[in-house]
Amino acid sequence: MKDKYSRLNLRRKFFTSAKSINALNGLPDSRNPRGESNGISQFKIQQVFRCKEYIWIDRHKFHDVGFQAHHKGSITDEEQVDPFSLVADELSILANRLRSMILTEIPKLGTAAEYFFKLGVEGKRFRPMVLLLMASSLTIGIPEVAADCLRKGLDEEQRLRQQRIAEITEMIHVASLLHDDVLDDADTRRGVGSLNFVMGNKLAVLAGDFLLSRASVALASLKNTEVVELLSKVLEHLVTGEIMQMTNTNEQRCSMEYYMQKTFYKTASLMANSCKAIALIAGQPAEVCMLAYDYGRNLGLAYQLVDDVLDFTGTTASLGKGSLSDIRQGIVTAPILFALEEFPQLHDVINRKFKKPGDIDLALEFLGKSDGIRKAKQLAAQHAGFAAFSVESFPPSESEYVKLCRKALIDLSEKVITRTK
Ligand code: FPP
Ligand code: MG
Repeated sequence: MKDKYSRLNLRRKFFTSAKSINALNGLPDSRNPRGESNGISQFKIQQVFRCKEYIWIDRHKFHDVGFQAHHKGSITDEEQVDPFSLVADELSILANRLRSMILTEIPKLGTAAEYFFKLGVEGKRFRPMVLLLMASSLTIGIPEVAADCLRKGLDEEQRLRQQRIAEITEMIHVASLLHDDVLDDADTRRGVGSLNFVMGNKLAVLAGDFLLSRASVALASLKNTEVVELLSKVLEHLVTGEIMQMTNTNEQRCSMEYYMQKTFYKTASLMANSCKAIALIAGQPAEVCMLAYDYGRNLGLAYQLVDDVLDFTGTTASLGKGSLSDIRQGIVTAPILFALEEFPQLHDVINRKFKKPGDIDLALEFLGKSDGIRKAKQLAAQHAGFAAFSVESFPPSESEYVKLCRKALIDLSEKVITRTK
């Protein structure tokens, strides 16, 4: 059963090739300070857990029954799991709770705050989905001797706390988008007018602040200082990432190191720290919390790298078919940075922030002649591989439901790099 399920050998092969891709691209180790060393540390962790023989109790027995009715035997590598359907019911409960968490007596503020929580404009709910799947993947057993009712009570309480982490994460995410749209002077978001466009900058900023204040209250209610620290750090990272993007020297603009750091702060930190918070609430040991963090971090990095490629290619593979919004805003991303390694002539264009007439076309021309797009995709695939490896390094579980959720997390890491929008 394990052989069928585990992709460990495949991942090991992937790691060898990922390392050689790194060498090929001349990527320094520090670009991936945790990821590279994970190849070794995560393997060690696995060995340790195998020896310890943890007792795992299946708190999802009721799920298992249903699951087994549809699946004879365990899930295979080839079977695709629909990650969304696994937690769809819980996601709609979460969406309703989110709407009630931002109620206020001030009508204007209420209208602004609920703007992106209304049905139809809630977005893909990618972050809450990942966090709920992470919660199920890290279900820890309490000793078999514990009375059933005690276990049920503890499980429910734990799950509610993990749902709260997902709610807080979504509120932070939406708040950051409201502020981002003001900074970018955006006019649309999620297919509708952005809040700043519809209600003005002042209300959009205040609505973002309001979401953060409600998120802070929810965070405090968890009464867990470590979790408070993790998610507060995310706020600092979001601001730092945004400032790093707004204010940089010519040298920083041309640095892959700087770009990856900014990407971590802007995109991956929220996923990394909230995944870790889920693991902490599950009562997992430090090593497992770190694996959860690594999953979120690498998934976030892979997601953003693909986003940066799609900005050039759109749904097609050809250059210039994307919105080109980054380059138009003078923002340098991975494809251009890789192209720069082959064509140092790009330095001048980058230093001018693509502002001189013809600069964008020139940049696209060099990018087209280079390996930039392919290398950026490879780097995304490498981080997706690291993310999958983190989940595969979780302590073994006998629960089919836990295995299914882990497989969904692994499949998600693949979906992130094969998506076209
Ligand atoms: C999207 O960037 C924006 C972010 C991922 C974070 C923005 C962070 C801030 C504005 C700092 C303030 C933070 C809080 C928590 C209030 P993008 O412009 O690259 O992507 P887009 O295409 O979605 O606009
Ligand atoms: Mg923006």
